[in-house]
Amino acid sequence: MAVVVGDPGGPVESVEVANDADGGFTYRQYHNERDLAQVMHLVDNELSEPYSIFTYRYFLRNWPSLCYLVYDGDRCFGTIVCKLDEHAGRMRGYLAMLVVEREYRHKGVGTQLVMKAISGMIEQGCEEVTLEAEVTNQGALKLYQNLGFIRDKRLRR
Ligand SMILES: CC(C)(COP(=O)(O)OP(=O)(O)OC[C@H]1O[C@@H](n2cnc3c(N)ncnc32)[C@H](O)[C@@H]1OP(=O)(O)O)[C@@H](O)C(=O)NCCC(=O)NCCS
Repeated sequence: MAVVVGDPGGPVESVEVANDADGGFTYRQYHNERDLAQVMHLVDNELSEPYSIFTYRYFLRNWPSLCYLVYDGDRCFGTIVCKLDEHAGRMRGYLAMLVVEREYRHKGVGTQLVMKAISGMIEQGCEEVTLEAEVTNQGALKLYQNLGFIRDKRLRR
């Protein structure tokens, strides 16, 4: 695993953020528990790490404004789940889950989801953003590096 760190005061902040309807897709924040099944469905299908319902609820109940869903018409095909809290005296954002269904990839949607979440974090006083990605996940690592994140630590377990 690698930990990737970005400084929202640096290059991340300067990237343009798209409108709510972008590229024909509609982005919206998490509303309530009725969205939970959708988020779980997407993440469970696409991420290697299994999460319990308690993990989803921990993020979504505490930081609902930092979760976005993206739609093609009625079809939800991507989501991002995050948190923001104090860490060593700094407000640290954390990108916990990011998923775009296969057929919608390489259209910039993953990047837009990350940008929207980071914009929300900045509005709430975020000073740095971190995430973890598997070293073999070249797609995710490239996406985050394009946004100005840097590799900071390699976690062995
Ligand atoms: C990672 C993921 C969210 C990217 O979503 P996406 O909508 O395709 O991302 P974007 O279109 O914004 O990609 C931006 C850039 O990232 C890089 N990238 C994305 N996926 C890539 C891949 N599979 N291989 C190489 N580069 C990739 C490219 O540079 C891409 O730009 P390009 O398409 O113009 O070449 C998606 O592949 C996914 O859901 N993967 C499974 C879940 C996952 O690994 N999540 C991340 C956990 S840390």
